[in-house]
Amino acid sequence: MSSVASCPSGVSALPEGMRLRRMRWWDLPEVSALDGALFRAQAWSLATFWSELAGVDETRHYIVVEQVEQVEQVGGARLVGYGGLLLSAGSADVATLGVAPEARRRGLGRALLQELLGHAALRGVAQVMLEVAVGNAPAIALYRRAGFEVISRRRGYYQPSGEDALIMRARLDRSLVPR
Ligand SMILES: CC(C)(COP(=O)(O)OP(=O)(O)OC[C@H]1O[C@@H](n2cnc3c(N)ncnc32)[C@H](O)[C@@H]1OP(=O)(O)O)[C@@H](O)C(=O)NCCC(=O)NCCS
Repeated sequence: MSSVASCPSGVSALPEGMRLRRMRWWDLPEVSALDGALFRAQAWSLATFWSELAGVDETRHYIVVEQVEQVEQVGGARLVGYGGLLLSAGSADVATLGVAPEARRRGLGRALLQELLGHAALRGVAQVMLEVAVGNAPAIALYRRAGFEVISRRRGYYQPSGEDALIMRARLDRSLVPR
C-alpha cells in the first residue's frame, strides 16, 4: 500500500530564531553560494536561480529559512536553508532543498519540505515527485519520514559521478488541507 504525505496548512514548527519566507532576488547570491557548497558539481548556476525566480508564478514556489537574530543584530540576513517546488498539471516536483551543515538536525529540512508539500496540496496537486542520489541517506530518511516512497531508479543519473538516482513520490492527502 502506498503511503500518504501529511499536508500542513503552512509552515511547521521552526526552531526559535528561525524564519521561513519566500525567496527574493536579493537572496540569490547567498542561496547560490550555499547551493554550490552543498551540491558542488550538481549545483545550479546563479543564472539558473535568477531565471527560476524570474519565472516565479503559479508554476514555481521558492522559499528560504533565515536566522532572525542575525537579521536584527547584524542588520543582514543569514540564510541557512532553501527549497523550491515546480508545479504542473496535477503533479509537482521538489526541485531543490538544502540546509547549511551547521543548522542541520534541527527540523529545518522537514519544515522546508512541509511548506513545499503544503503549497502543493493547496494548489490541488495529487502527488509530489523528487529525485535523490542513492547514497544520500539523510535526504532519503527525511523524504521517507515525510511520506515519500521509492518508485524507480535511474542508473548513472548524476554526472560526472555516475551515481544512480532514486525517484520518490508522495501522494498528498488533500483532506488534511484546510478549506
Ligand atoms: C537532507 C537535508 C536537507 C536535511 O536537513 P535537516 O535540516 O538536517 O533535516 P531535519 O533536521 O529536518 O531532519 C528531519 C528528519 O530527516 C531525517 N534525517 C535528517 N538528517 C539525517 C541524517 N543525517 N541521518 C539520518 N536521518 C536524517 C531524520 O528522520 C530527521 O528527523 P529526526 O531529526 O527527528 O530524527 C540536509 O542534510 C541537507 O541539506 N543535505 C545536503 C543537501 C541535500 O542532500 N539535499 C537534498 C537533495 S535531494
